Amino acid sequence: MQRVFTSEELAAYDGSVSGRPVLIGYKGYVYDVTGRFMWMAGRHFWLRAGHDLTGRMTDSPHGEEILERVPRVGILAARPD
Ligand code: HEM
Repeated sequence: MQRVFTSEELAAYDGSVSGRPVLIGYKGYVYDVTGRFMWMAGRHFWLRAGHDLTGRMTDSPHGEEILERVPRVGILAARPD
């Protein structure tokens, strides 16, 4: 079973705390980018880990198939509103 993350819980994994996993949200799922050179300290160009990055792929040289390189570790909880 995969863990369910609220956006507040996901925000704790933004890469600002060393030793803690670095996670990103995308289209309802949570992916682990811990230790990835391209996501060092939770930064990926002008993006930050710990957020739902759905819709942020448009200015990217790659498509969402790039996420196949990293483990899927959870599900993003639907917002209550
Ligand atoms: C918006 C601007 C973005 C730019 C300019 C950008 C740029 C790049 C570049 C140049 C690479 C290296 C490609 C390679 O190794 O072949 C990369 C890798 C990657 N990007 Fe992005 N990207 C963007 C957005 C995103 C978004 C929105 C996500 C996730 C939702 C994402 C997830 C990844 C992942 C998982 C990798 C692979 C890291 C690895 O191989 O260790 N990127 N990106």
